[in-house]
Amino acid sequence: MMRNLYAELHPIPERIEASRLYLRAVQMGDGVLIRAAVEDSFEQLSRWMPWANHVPALSESETFARESAAQFRSKEEFNFLLLRQDDDYHLGNLGLHSIHWDVPRFEIGYWLRSSQQGHGYATEAVRAVCGLLFREQKAERIEIRCDDRNIGSAAVAERAGFTLEAILRNHARDNAGGLRNTRIYALFPETGKLL
Ligand SMILES: CC(C)(COP(=O)(O)OP(=O)(O)OC[C@H]1O[C@@H](n2cnc3c(N)ncnc32)[C@H](O)[C@@H]1OP(=O)(O)O)[C@@H](O)C(=O)NCCC(=O)NCCS
Repeated sequence: MMRNLYAELHPIPERIEASRLYLRAVQMGDGVLIRAAVEDSFEQLSRWMPWANHVPALSESETFARESAAQFRSKEEFNFLLLRQDDDYHLGNLGLHSIHWDVPRFEIGYWLRSSQQGHGYATEAVRAVCGLLFREQKAERIEIRCDDRNIGSAAVAERAGFTLEAILRNHARDNAGGLRNTRIYALFPETGKLL
């Protein structure tokens, strides 16, 4: 993806503040934390996340952490840990990917530990990131894509003000091999700047 000068001059910060949580760029050494959270939440993650097709070995999670750190520097993708303000507890992850700097547009993906759902943390993180992308990166479009059956993820998008644009039928296969429809949600600067 071509990067523009604006993105070079306004780098996405390694730490983004929300109220009860903050986002911190994934870095070398985070593999232990990430693997533990994925293992704890595997039953749920494997239903919805294509990458969660097996419980990762520690080395795989650490490879993800190191690749994420490199991609953050090269501005290809931005993976963050979601950490609780009070005690730095790891709540889950959020990533910015499918980035087109020429627009600019971004796609957001997220997951929470199963034990940390039901508190509004995902919505809070999405709002904080969208606010930053509209203000600092001059984003013109932010997307969330999810399995049509993933009611929890669709609810995050809707709570954060995203509009359902399309449902792509037979768009992909889930980890069990079944066909899935994909919802596309989008948010634009007009609504996003209110965040
Ligand atoms: C998708 C996912 C992150 C949603 O998690 P979630 O906890 O339901 O979403 P939020 O953190 O925004 O919390 C919203 C819930 O907390 C409640 N809540 C409590 N306090 C809240 C607050 N201060 N603000 C907002 N919501 C609050 C809401 O009422 C809502 O509960 P409900 O679902 O019973 O209506 C989670 O289900 C998940 O990790 N799933 C597996 C991975 C996945 O599917 N990722 C998305 C792939 S596209």
